Amino acid sequence: MKNRVIAIDGPSGAGKSTIAKGIGKRMGFLHVDSGSLYRIMTLAAIKAGIDCNDEAAVAAGCDKVDVRFVVKDGAVAALVEGKEPGDAIRTAEINAHVSPVSKVPEVRERINIWLRGMRELGDIVVEGRDIGSVVFPDTPARFFLNASAEARAIRRHLEEVAKGIATQTVEEVKASLLNRDKIDSSRKTAPLKIPEGAIVIDSTNLSIEEVLDIVEKNARAAFGI
Ligand code: DC
Repeated sequence: MKNRVIAIDGPSGAGKSTIAKGIGKRMGFLHVDSGSLYRIMTLAAIKAGIDCNDEAAVAAGCDKVDVRFVVKDGAVAALVEGKEPGDAIRTAEINAHVSPVSKVPEVRERINIWLRGMRELGDIVVEGRDIGSVVFPDTPARFFLNASAEARAIRRHLEEVAKGIATQTVEEVKASLLNRDKIDSSRKTAPLKIPEGAIVIDSTNLSIEEVLDIVEKNARAAFGI
């Protein structure tokens, strides 16, 4: 039998990472953060001196990025030129450039091949924007996580403060994530949207445990486990 896939999509700051990691722990699935792969492509483009708004240059450059995957601490970790990129892919500069890079079809194709290959490593819980709609549309466990823009901005800001990488106010974080949502939802290739048949969860007024309970119960029912 093929390994199982849980797809968790939604906009920035909806709680996808927290929930995907928590479900991974509860159910023994490897956590996969697909957004980090778009961030890795963006960092590589910037380092190579490529203009992130130049689609042709980004498309030509994305083949050259050297990425390998290893299983580490219950997750699939990406090694770029042999090293984990860490918080270098979480800066305001990367936030500002990642949406134009993720619009490029060649970038998406390369990342989708990586993501589909990760299924060979074990059961996986994958968070992103197009996981249930494009990457694994055949999996029965598909979720769309949402929350109000205010709640999402506050959560993102607090995460950045906790990591010591906060450079923006809550209002600035909100403007940046609404801008990314707009680009991500209106792009031609694989826009952010609710996958058909996905379970939609609005987490604005729910605790982490409550969301985890809903996802776990529905995922177990979907797989019959
Ligand atoms: O989840 P995140 O904020 O780390 O994602 C960074 C960007 O990557 C986001 O603006 C949209 C893009 N992305 C995407 O287009 N498709 C995915 N499956 C995951 C992320």
